[in-house]
Amino acid sequence: MGREDNLRRRAWQGVVIEYYDFISVNNEKLKLPPVSLQEGNTPLIESVSLVKELKEFGFSGKIYFKHEGLNPTSSFKDRGMAVAVTRARDSNAQAIICASTGNTSASASAYGARAKIPVIIVVPEKGVTIGKLVQAIAHGAVMIRVKGNFDSALQLARKVAEDFSLFIVNSINPWRIEGQKTASLEICDALGFAPDYHFIPVGNAGNIYSYWIGYKQYKEIGRIDMLPKMYGFQAEGAAPIVKGHPISDPQTIASAIRIGNPANWERAILAKEESEGIIDTVSDDEILKAYKFMGEKEGIFCELSSAASVAGLIKMVKKKSTQKDAVVVCTLTGHGLKDPQAVIDFIPPKEAIIEPSFKAIKNLIQEIIPQKIEKSQSSALQET
Ligand code: F0G
Repeated sequence: MGREDNLRRRAWQGVVIEYYDFISVNNEKLKLPPVSLQEGNTPLIESVSLVKELKEFGFSGKIYFKHEGLNPTSSFKDRGMAVAVTRARDSNAQAIICASTGNTSASASAYGARAKIPVIIVVPEKGVTIGKLVQAIAHGAVMIRVKGNFDSALQLARKVAEDFSLFIVNSINPWRIEGQKTASLEICDALGFAPDYHFIPVGNAGNIYSYWIGYKQYKEIGRIDMLPKMYGFQAEGAAPIVKGHPISDPQTIASAIRIGNPANWERAILAKEESEGIIDTVSDDEILKAYKFMGEKEGIFCELSSAASVAGLIKMVKKKSTQKDAVVVCTLTGHGLKDPQAVIDFIPPKEAIIEPSFKAIKNLIQEIIPQKIEKSQSSALQET
């Protein structure tokens, strides 16, 4: 076997190849090789700080973060998009279309570019973060900005996809769900079992359902013995499933889940009921606290929307709604760099402006860490 074969063998090949035998909508065989950016295989990072904080409230279990922000376009969408766009190319699709709060459109744009299929994205005129918008632009997608919210964008995208026979890659597309479920398969492969609880943000509600069918599939084939309880969280101002009716003007700082009428509503309820889980709300304040905690205390920079899962866990542990010694996984759905403005708006920097002299920086550092500086002062530090 040559050098190239060895390289290829070692590299992760993306979810379509790695989980080929598990992804089966109607068992259609592929004609062409998969469209892939080597998505998936994301880290399952054990908590070092949150787990300590929650001890105070009686929690003695383990917490893991499934960091989906480390996918190729920095969100979980890449898993489903790899499968959906693979199918789009296999079926000779003329163009791909999606509505989005930003991450689906960023992912569709990247995978469409790779597959050489034109991409049309339909996004709310306002509220899509700059990081997500520039991804779509960089990948050359056509962007239609709707003077409305995600729900109206999705309605338009669905209608136009039907009328013009465009390949829609929202999570109403079964291939998206098939791809996204690979995250729960990876968690079980990494742990050797399923967690007791799975915490996840809920927006259009495709992801909670995807994880659930992934877990169920592994249980059916005997890879795991027990199923987790699915704990989904919506933002308080955008919580149609919790409130039991669509919200016409959803509001939250977590723009990715600012959705008032989720397309996968019933499926989310199914995941909740079958798993004996819950779908609950977290406030913007709770989301923000969890977001800051993740950055400052866990070293993980995630999106505001992603922090809804962590906020949910904190809320449930405080309410004693989780088993004390449970193994918990929180999905972090997107990377914090998607939304630099959130940091600017919500986290004051620890910074100082100084003259370019050693004296100025020395004084400043002495103020911050007086003992350490005195001890470590050496001749190598020359005044300039
Ligand atoms: N977290 C992030 C970062 C998201 O982008 C989304 C959804 C969710 C959570 C919720 O996942 O919709 O499967 O319940 N973003 C979609 C988009 C709506 O257009 O990018 P869900």
